[in-house]
Amino acid sequence: MLQSREDLRPAGPATRRRWEVMLRLNVVTLFPELFEVAFDMSILGRAKAKGLVEYRVVNLRDYTHDRHHTVDDSPYGGGAGMVLKPEPFFEALDDLAARPPIVLLSARGRPLDHAGAVRLSLAGELTLLCGHYKDVDGRVAEAPGVEEVAIGDFVLSGGELAALCVADAVIRLLPGALGDHESASSDSFYEGWLSPPSYTRPPEYRGLKVPEVLLGGDHARIAAWREAEAARLTKLRRPDLWAKYEAELRSHEAGPQGAEHESTDRGAARRTARESS
Ligand SMILES: C[S@@+](CC[C@H](N)C(=O)[O-])C[C@H]1O[C@@H](n2cnc3c(N)ncnc32)[C@H](O)[C@@H]1O
Repeated sequence: MLQSREDLRPAGPATRRRWEVMLRLNVVTLFPELFEVAFDMSILGRAKAKGLVEYRVVNLRDYTHDRHHTVDDSPYGGGAGMVLKPEPFFEALDDLAARPPIVLLSARGRPLDHAGAVRLSLAGELTLLCGHYKDVDGRVAEAPGVEEVAIGDFVLSGGELAALCVADAVIRLLPGALGDHESASSDSFYEGWLSPPSYTRPPEYRGLKVPEVLLGGDHARIAAWREAEAARLTKLRRPDLWAKYEAELRSHEAGPQGAEHESTDRGAARRTARESS
C-alpha cells in the first residue's frame, strides 16, 4: 500500500519552489463560511501557504435559478424532512469541471480509513459534496465518479464537519504539510496499529507519573516499550485491526505464495523483520 506521495514528488532544479501544488480541493456546501477559518489555520492553512493545496469552496445556492435560491424540496413518497435537489450539485460539479474522486459525505457511505485517506491524497484533485437536512437526492450519489464516504457510524446534521475531517486527514498526508517534527508515519493506522501514548514534562502531575522507561534515555528500551504499548492497545481496543495484522503476518511468513499481499502488508513485514532481528 502506498503510504504517502513522498516518492512521487518530482525532484525539480534547486531554483524551483520546493513544493508543488499536489492537491486541488473543491468543496460544495450550503455553508462556505465554515471552511474559511479552518482552511486558514494550522496544518490546512500552512499547506495552502506553502502552495501544496488549493481550495475552491462554492455555495450550493449559487447553482439555483429561482428567486428564492431553493436548494431543497419534499421527498417523493412522503416522509419527514427536506431533500437537497440534484440540479445544484450537478451544476456545481460542471462548473468546477470536477473529476473523480468526488466524495459525497454520507452516513451510508463506506467508512473512511487510513488507506482511503492515502488514496484521496494521491488524487491530485478531490471534490467534497456536503449534504444537509434529511438527505441528498439519490441521483447525486449515482452520478459518474461520485462515491459516498462516511466518517463514522453516527449521523451528523450536515456534511461540512465530515468534509473538514476528510480534508484534514488527506492534507496532512501531503509531503511538506507536516513539519519534520510531526511525521505522520508514527501516527495510529500508518502501519495498521494504534500508536502508543505520548508524555511530556513534568514527570509527575497530580500523582500521575510518566512511565519510568521514557525518562531513562535508553532508546532501545523506549522503542520496545512503545511497540509493546501499541500492540497492547491495538489488541484491546481494535481487535479488528489486530486480526488483520495477524492475518498479514501469517501471509508474510508463508513466503512467496503470500507475495500477492505484499503491497498491503508493509507494517506486518516491518514488524516481522524487527521481531526476527
Ligand atoms: C442529517 S444527515 C442525513 C442522514 C441520512 N438521512 C441518513 O440516515 O443516512 C445530513 C447530511 O450530513 C452528512 N452526514 C451525516 N452523517 C454523516 C457521516 N457519518 N459521515 C459523513 N457525512 C455525514 C451527510 O452529508 C448528510 O447528507
